[in-house]
Amino acid sequence: MDVIRIRGGKQLQGKIRVSGAKNAALPILCATLLSDGESILRNVPALKDIETTGELLRVLGRNVMVDPPLVRVAGGPEANPEAPYELVKQMRASVLVLGPLVARYGRAKVSLPGGCQIGSRPVDQHLKGLEALGATIRLSNGYIHAECKRLRGAEVVFDMPTVTGTENIMMAAALAKGRTTLVNCAREPEVEELGRVLNKMGARVDGAGTDVIHIEGRDELDPFDHAIISDRIETGTYMVAAAAAGGDVLLENAPLEDLEAVVSKLRATGVEVGREGDCVRIRRDPDRPLRPVDVMTAPHPGFPTDMQAQFMVLMCLARGTSRIVETIFENRFMHVPELRRMGAEIDTDGHTAHVHGGRPLSGAKVMATDLRASASLVIAGLLATEGETEVLRVYHLDRGYEYMERKLAQLGADTVRIKGQPG
Ligand code: EPZ
Repeated sequence: MDVIRIRGGKQLQGKIRVSGAKNAALPILCATLLSDGESILRNVPALKDIETTGELLRVLGRNVMVDPPLVRVAGGPEANPEAPYELVKQMRASVLVLGPLVARYGRAKVSLPGGCQIGSRPVDQHLKGLEALGATIRLSNGYIHAECKRLRGAEVVFDMPTVTGTENIMMAAALAKGRTTLVNCAREPEVEELGRVLNKMGARVDGAGTDVIHIEGRDELDPFDHAIISDRIETGTYMVAAAAAGGDVLLENAPLEDLEAVVSKLRATGVEVGREGDCVRIRRDPDRPLRPVDVMTAPHPGFPTDMQAQFMVLMCLARGTSRIVETIFENRFMHVPELRRMGAEIDTDGHTAHVHGGRPLSGAKVMATDLRASASLVIAGLLATEGETEVLRVYHLDRGYEYMERKLAQLGADTVRIKGQPG
């Protein structure tokens, strides 16, 4: 297994380019199932999750060419609407094939995603939505079986804003007969992006990006050619890395408008964030202490849960105590024990963490547990002024960050990937 080794204490300087958004690419790749023609995705990041989705689409009978930043998907000779456990267990987002398959083929058999490191993550809202559109749902032997000759438009009220739940039902409704209204939807930019693609395919989607979405279904949908949006979470991660290490960094192709909650918290700590031409500039004088700031995660446009771990590391630097409350997932403090091994002082109680900042971090061997926790450990390694940090199990990182150690090295960090280490 690969390890990333970091020698900290270096400021970050220079410019890097933000990649396409993982959490936009995944649902849009699944939307290709709604049409038999050849669809083309551009600006696709080179990530493990993209490869896994390509594999899944092949198993479902599609012809797939994955060559980031380009992916081509077309109908194959034989459709096989069955998503096996072996693939779904690698990536929960595989559940996003459920809506398109039952809408396109009248039936689907998809392995029920299990829990993951950060929470139990049920999919009851996905199933409730499909039932409202007329599907019969049966769970057996670890699989979801969904059937419906032709879905029909209906109203679906989600119990909570769910990102992939909203996306799954949007895709199903795009081929349903009649009009669907989704209420209490997730408003994430990735949901809005999917709405854009479904409109390109000929569906009529209004309101994507707001909490109420209307969809006029079609009998048939066209393939699409689409360049996906940039990754706001990757952007936020490099913003926090620059703020933590200190320095002056330009992020090219960065969707600042999708990160208002993160930017306002960064500014509250004393970090400078601004636009510079088509780049975002982050500056922090390492001699200027950071202010502690409290954060509570929330659905978009609130503070993203996918930035919580990274921001916690920044608060390890702040002069004083900050309070971080995780409201989305019940088990998203897996990075805390690893940060404590590096010398951080963090108390947790249920969904709340108190970070007592201002103590220097030291290098150590640390274990990545999930995607965003691994990014936070890399940032902590940049801060550790004494000793080396080795982040183990970086396959978690590779699921959502394209060449992170290279991009950081481009900014002057001492980060290298060591291949095939025991771990
Ligand atoms: C999406 O996951 C993202 N994944 C996650 O990013 C992100 O953390 C999450 O949204 C929240 O922003 C993708 O887009 C592929 P939810 P998703 O359904 O859709 C509960 C990353 O790091 N819920 O919005 O699975 C759920 O348990 C990943 O890139 C139900 O109870 O999240 C959670 O508490 C990690 N029943 C809350 O809703 C349901 O049927 C929000 O989850 C669905 C969700």
